[in-house]
Amino acid sequence: MGRAFLDHYQQRETDQVTGWDMDECDITDPIITDQIVALNPDLVINAAAWTNVDAAESHPDTVYAVNTLGPKYLAEACARCDAAMVQISTNEVFPGEPGRFYREYDERAARGVYARSKLAAERAAQQMLERLMVVRIAWLFGPGGNSFPTKIAEAADRHGKLRVVADEFGNPTYAPDAVRAISRLADLDRPGFYHLTNSGYCSRFTFAQTVLELSGRGHVPITPITADEWTRPAPPPLHAVLINQAAAALGVTMRPWEEALAEFVGEYMTNDT
Ligand SMILES: NC(=O)c1ccc[n+]([C@@H]2O[C@H](COP(=O)([O-])OP(=O)(O)OC[C@H]3O[C@@H](n4cnc5c(N)ncnc54)[C@H](OP(=O)(O)O)[C@@H]3O)[C@@H](O)[C@H]2O)c1
Repeated sequence: MGRAFLDHYQQRETDQVTGWDMDECDITDPIITDQIVALNPDLVINAAAWTNVDAAESHPDTVYAVNTLGPKYLAEACARCDAAMVQISTNEVFPGEPGRFYREYDERAARGVYARSKLAAERAAQQMLERLMVVRIAWLFGPGGNSFPTKIAEAADRHGKLRVVADEFGNPTYAPDAVRAISRLADLDRPGFYHLTNSGYCSRFTFAQTVLELSGRGHVPITPITADEWTRPAPPPLHAVLINQAAAALGVTMRPWEEALAEFVGEYMTNDT
């Protein structure tokens, strides 16, 4: 997602953009606050995170350092130089009870280490900074990353058949679409909590099936299974489906996930990737 932000802002001639990667900045190092204050930015977007949800279970100290203390230091820096900040968060801060849909200010209850560290980040950053936009996204995919559509295509090519969970639901989120929407929101400079995913939602099974069809792999047999049959160290919330109410009220919405997925598959996935 960080890459998509850089691409987007570098194309806007009005902005001076600085993108930092791990070798230039480590958000777990408190010195990051001075680094940012020295830059004196108008806006800081934090797309850095520990995102390996299952591995997070066995590395809680590192995960909390990256996902909670990092955003806290960034928010502290923004408060010192009067900058706004966008903290990217996740649908996993919600419990995801079957059949539930979550609005921006619904009660949060995170389960695994990753989800709890992201929820703690929302709280820590909020304590530090008024000009904070917390933007929750969900099943992220896009160019350059190892995302669900790419993994499904690779698994289909390797195994010739698939089993995919059909009782986990979420909102697919195309990174370039989310970045455009977040940038519009940031231009409005309205602090608060926002949900920005592509519109609509689906099960993992439908997401996978649509990838297969769009990428010319519609012949690959795919069997629906339950989440219980696909055990993971950090079981995801089954129905943490987000509703975009707050950004929509400001005129910021996103196109349906099927359209975004068709564009992604057409532009970035060939029949043999
Ligand atoms: N992926 C999803 O489905 C999803 C869903 C909901 C929300 N989100 C949220 O969306 C945001 C972006 O996710 P993504 O999928 O783009 O993640 P990603 O591909 O894993 O990228 C995260 C980036 O953070 C960097 N990073 C890790 N530790 C760092 C540190 N201590 N200091 C500075 N940079 C560090 C990583 O660098 P290295 O590559 O060098 O490790 C990587 O470039 C995250 O906040 C994530 O929680 C993602």
